[in-house]
Amino acid sequence: MIRICIAGGTGQVGAEVVRQALERGIEVSAFSRRPPMPGTAKHHDGAAYWAADVATGSGVAEALAGADVVVDCLEGRSRKAIKGFADGGDRLLHAAKMEGVRKVVLLSIINCDQVRLGYQRSKAEKERRYAGSDVETVVVRTTQFHSLLAEVFSAGSRVRLTPVFKGARFQTISPSEAAAALLEEALGSRLGELHRVRTVGGPEILPMRSMAQIWQTATHARGKVIELPLPGSMGEYLREGQNLIPEQTFGRETFPAWLAKNADSL
Ligand SMILES: NC(=O)c1ccc[n+]([C@@H]2O[C@H](COP(=O)([O-])OP(=O)(O)OC[C@H]3O[C@@H](n4cnc5c(N)ncnc54)[C@H](OP(=O)(O)O)[C@@H]3O)[C@@H](O)[C@H]2O)c1
Repeated sequence: MIRICIAGGTGQVGAEVVRQALERGIEVSAFSRRPPMPGTAKHHDGAAYWAADVATGSGVAEALAGADVVVDCLEGRSRKAIKGFADGGDRLLHAAKMEGVRKVVLLSIINCDQVRLGYQRSKAEKERRYAGSDVETVVVRTTQFHSLLAEVFSAGSRVRLTPVFKGARFQTISPSEAAAALLEEALGSRLGELHRVRTVGGPEILPMRSMAQIWQTATHARGKVIELPLPGSMGEYLREGQNLIPEQTFGRETFPAWLAKNADSL
């Protein structure tokens, strides 16, 4: 039987990979710096949870022991975490090689190499480290998550505004369908090359303004929808539609459907 280790197995996508893998009868281990307590929302019975930190390497080899495939769902948003994000990937890849892991699957962001901001650069740099690894790797780049747009709108609502970026459209995907794409790659056979990149998107492309209105209706939030210009490479990325992949609609769950399903937590 295959054994999968999920790095960042308590995150919004990682925990879904854990859940879906267990549902398919796969043996699962997962690690994060703070493993979940049994009985809490992030804990899935049947998975073996480990405390490990890719920033230092502590506990990583132990968590990976016996795994055939590793799925990297790690995140790093603080300045320090962004700076060390790719090095954390190196530590994970090194431990994977030492532990005889066959394949490592990385969750990344569509065209992250086109944005010259620290956060996106850290993703692109990690992708490059993966492409240089001795172990087989698949990078799964996804479009933005439905939850990201909900976070942006919700942040504005604190000052009774719903911000939208001028000219931006999104093809958002649900975190659970991003997890399904990762699991599909984790379980798939090698397709030839040692390193492969696959990009997947959500089911439909919507102007950000329409998404703001859909979000307001779903959450009963009031507030003026205001259009903000987004300068720099992030603005270009969105205006040029580099965040879209209409020919790869992997996800089926639409933004309104995802909002309806998560109404209690929005
Ligand atoms: N948001 C989007 O629209 C979007 C779109 C495409 C791709 N992505 C990418 O998807 C990835 C996952 O995102 P997410 O939202 O699921 O992340 P998340 O919810 O923040 O989860 C991150 C996970 O990584 C763990 N972690 C963080 N630092 C760690 C460290 N040093 N050592 C070990 N574990 C660590 C966290 O647990 P602890 O904190 O307990 O360690 C947690 O389990 C990110 O790389 C993100 O860029 C995001």
